[in-house]
Amino acid sequence: MAMATAKLLLLMVLVAASSCDGSAWRGPLSRLRMLPTAQYVVEAAAERLKEDVSSAPLIHALHPLLGSAGDFSRRAGVPCDSWRLAVETYNKRDWTTVPASCEGYVGHYMLGGHYRRDSRVVVDEAVAYAETLNLGGNGKEVWVFDIDETSLSNLPYYANHGFGTKPYNATSFNEYVLEGSAPVLPETQRLFKKLISLGIKPVFLTGRTEDQRAITVANLRRQGYSGWMKLLLKPVGLKATAIAYKSGERQKLQDAGFVIVGNIGDQWSDILGAPEGARTFKLPDPLYYIG
Ligand SMILES: *[C@@H]1O[C@H](CO)[C@@H](O)[C@H](O)[C@H]1NC(C)=O
Ligand SMILES: [Mg+2]
Repeated sequence: MAMATAKLLLLMVLVAASSCDGSAWRGPLSRLRMLPTAQYVVEAAAERLKEDVSSAPLIHALHPLLGSAGDFSRRAGVPCDSWRLAVETYNKRDWTTVPASCEGYVGHYMLGGHYRRDSRVVVDEAVAYAETLNLGGNGKEVWVFDIDETSLSNLPYYANHGFGTKPYNATSFNEYVLEGSAPVLPETQRLFKKLISLGIKPVFLTGRTEDQRAITVANLRRQGYSGWMKLLLKPVGLKATAIAYKSGERQKLQDAGFVIVGNIGDQWSDILGAPEGARTFKLPDPLYYIG
């Protein structure tokens, strides 16, 4: 038992060491390539630990170390992981910034493979669902796509602005949008192209404003999007919540005779509010919250 506890402590140190490189994100991103090695070391330690304590009261042993260790547990990534889960499940709402202590965690999540893997699972489900649809043959089926953090990624901006730990700055963010350089989210584009091949028409519905139409079109085209049916942007100065604005636009589509077979976005406000669409898909986004 004492042996197991000692190994558990070793594991905790390894976990802490693998996740405490702080906020120095402006350095070369190649530093991140060290992460898989660190993860492997932790996993190997966990495997050894499992062998040693398989008959020991592991939960009892873990509880005091993880539950009350303050900074130690934060470095182990446990609260940030739980925070992200609460965000993605919409248990946590109306938050303004990523907790400062989670900058490293969110950075690794976004820039490493985890974000891509999570997005891939969402899109795999969406494609599988789309393939089951029996279309009416009148070309009325549409699929609603959000743009930011759904069709295009603003990760180059957020990587330079603390991964959501700093308050939203409309000036600098809009400067970034007007560069028209946001990269594609490849998983979403795979869905987009699949839907077109199936005969389902994509509709972009975004909180970007009408005065950003030209640069948004240019950015989308540059990143390989084409063949959308509509690009719906928010009127400049419209005072409405994202849910009210977006559900209102979906209602207009439905009133015009379109059938919204699917709806995908990174915010809950993309997919809440009737008519939501026959099925909704939530992409991960631990960077910011739009109500
Ligand atoms: C917001 O961004 C602008 C443009 O980069 C900058 O001048 C300004 O200082 C920023 N505001 C804050 C509060 O950081
Ligand atoms: Mg979005």
